[in-house]
Amino acid sequence: MENKILEIKKNAACEINSASNLKELDEVKNKYLSRQSELNNLKKGLKDIDPSLRPKIGALTNEVSKEIENLIKEKNEVFYFEELNQKLASEKIDPTLDGTYIKKGKVHTLTSTVNELVEIFEHLGFSLIENKYSPEVEVEKYNFDLLNTPKEHPARDVQDTYYAANAEHVVLRSQTSGAQIHAMKNQKPPIRIIAPGRVYRNESVSARKNNLFHQIEGLCVDKDITFTDLKGTLNEFIRLYFGSSRPTRFRNSFFPFTEPSAEVDVQCIMCGGKGCSTCSGTGWLEILGCGMVDPNVLEGVGIDSSVYSGFAFGMGIERLTMLKYAIDDIRLFFNNDERFLKQF
Ligand code: DAH
Repeated sequence: MENKILEIKKNAACEINSASNLKELDEVKNKYLSRQSELNNLKKGLKDIDPSLRPKIGALTNEVSKEIENLIKEKNEVFYFEELNQKLASEKIDPTLDGTYIKKGKVHTLTSTVNELVEIFEHLGFSLIENKYSPEVEVEKYNFDLLNTPKEHPARDVQDTYYAANAEHVVLRSQTSGAQIHAMKNQKPPIRIIAPGRVYRNESVSARKNNLFHQIEGLCVDKDITFTDLKGTLNEFIRLYFGSSRPTRFRNSFFPFTEPSAEVDVQCIMCGGKGCSTCSGTGWLEILGCGMVDPNVLEGVGIDSSVYSGFAFGMGIERLTMLKYAIDDIRLFFNNDERFLKQF
């Protein structure tokens, strides 16, 4: 028995020695150290031999297993370093070669304006309304009727509004103001929301007008909301967006869903108020529409207008961006010209 074990050891050492690659070495390992190996079978047979011989034979099989294992380990290392050296020799790095240029993407100018506006209004206590509550494909009722807009109002004209060809009273929203209705139908006062998004108008495209553009809508409804709250909120917004040194003015206006209504102008950023072609000589640039929510609108969504009042505002995101950065053509936002987009 002892001889048998020593012979196994000799054979294993010999085969390990002559293995010429990792695969062959693995085969040797399998042959001598696996469960089905001769050595292992001998170990299993120990219980059948003369008990007085067991300790000696047992110790010997263990010792031989260990020795074979060590030999394999050593040989493994030899192969490992051989391979590594080969690899290092073949994979030389040339640090003088040009690297691969990876183009970095960035947020679109309009998206960063939206992000900035949202941040400002959140700071002023407004929350972003979820998009699902204010869809781009809208029913006339939300885009016009519930906003107190008469049936014969010119904005409803197909010249301004895109109507679905195959569904009655379905439009591409022409303003984000419908979000006010969604908000008031989905939550009870106090309400303070903003809703940015795309709007569509049937315009002929020019440097000043595109048939797709973006607006952000704001609505505040609570007890005791007054025009002063509206003015304070918007002045603070303008201060944060344009900087503190820019004078503003509120001008009388009309919108069907607000009463009274106003438009807000900021002093022309091009001429500083002296009058130039950008501001058509007036020294002022109109940036938004706003007003106190018309009681008809509140009643239309079931809010008691003798208890609650509110203000609303809406503005064009392209326009705000153009005024801040002196961009003179709205089409630049949609042409995907990197020379333009990279600048912001
Ligand atoms: N929806 C108006 C527009 O597209 C802008 C507007 C005016 C929104 C007054 C308002 C508002 O919320 O109160 O021209």
